[in-house]
Amino acid sequence: MRVGMLTGGGDCPGLNAVIRAATRRLAGGHEVVGVLHGWRGMIEGRFTRLGIDDVSGILPRGGTILKTSRTNPYREEGGVDAVLRNLATFDALIAIGGEDTLGVAHRIHAEHGAPIIGVPKTIDNDLAATDQTFGFDTAVSIATEAIDRLHTTAESHDRVMVVEVMGRHAGWLAVQSGLAGGADVVLIPEFPISVERCAEMVRARHARGRDFSIVVVSEGWPMTHEDGQTGLATQTEELDAFGHVRLGGIGEHLGQELKRLTGFDTRVTVLGHLQRGGSPTAYDRVLATRYGLLAADLAIAGRHGLMAALRGTDVVAVPLADAVKELKTVPREYYALAEAFFG
Ligand code: F6P
Repeated sequence: MRVGMLTGGGDCPGLNAVIRAATRRLAGGHEVVGVLHGWRGMIEGRFTRLGIDDVSGILPRGGTILKTSRTNPYREEGGVDAVLRNLATFDALIAIGGEDTLGVAHRIHAEHGAPIIGVPKTIDNDLAATDQTFGFDTAVSIATEAIDRLHTTAESHDRVMVVEVMGRHAGWLAVQSGLAGGADVVLIPEFPISVERCAEMVRARHARGRDFSIVVVSEGWPMTHEDGQTGLATQTEELDAFGHVRLGGIGEHLGQELKRLTGFDTRVTVLGHLQRGGSPTAYDRVLATRYGLLAADLAIAGRHGLMAALRGTDVVAVPLADAVKELKTVPREYYALAEAFFG
């Protein structure tokens, strides 16, 4: 068999662990082909042979040895035809990505019967049909460590520290790191608390002698006012090939508003791409490895249109269609866990 493998969308800790696991499983009796730069490589036929030696030592490495891009073949002239021409040279393609990369994988499989298998990655943890994506645990650990460190300065200087985390339109990263880091308020897109309410909670803490506060804000939280005014912070007006705005910067606006409303000394830290960089946690290495092994097994078995997923503690195959039909956002009861510690 000739099996291709690509990584698409934002990079994420654990991508190399998937590549290594799938290659190790397949390399004995099959040809493994790395597709460079995600769907761009499938359009342009940018391939590289992968053997056991090529994946040796990459388990703890962040990023992706196959490189990545946010290319959408459906938005490129002749893109899908070119993908199909190149796909015809493979018996299976393992696509490792989030909602965009797997959305393309699903569509090409559904519309053309292409032999594609998905693996769910993203630090945002917003893919449906799996309990967790790999990369999320690492990002949560990085954000938690940052919150711990900011706590000491907050406490020493009697400051309000605003920490902006990624996550796009899902608040998983904010809630999980807020819970782990003991945040005093967590603001997420799913249940937007107003800035006035946030200021009230901060003031209430100070009133009972807690002279510092940690506020974790998800980049997709819209600045929300009591009078109903809202507004997302975006870095540019331009949309990417999948129609997404580039989020980031809400922390600065929030910090200014909190300072204005409370009068307390306030500082802002935007964690940004630090959350995606570096070595994966042990948890993500194991999860990514399990996903890679299952994806390879599905390729060998000729089972396509599926995605490796975590259900409880089991790694199982689920329809790709289920993974991309909706975004997995934070449910009310999970946000309530963080709310229990507000103020
Ligand atoms: O989807 C992962 C993610 O890191 C989001 O949390 C964030 O909004 C986006 O990617 C940033 O994308 P880029 O790396 O293109 O700036």
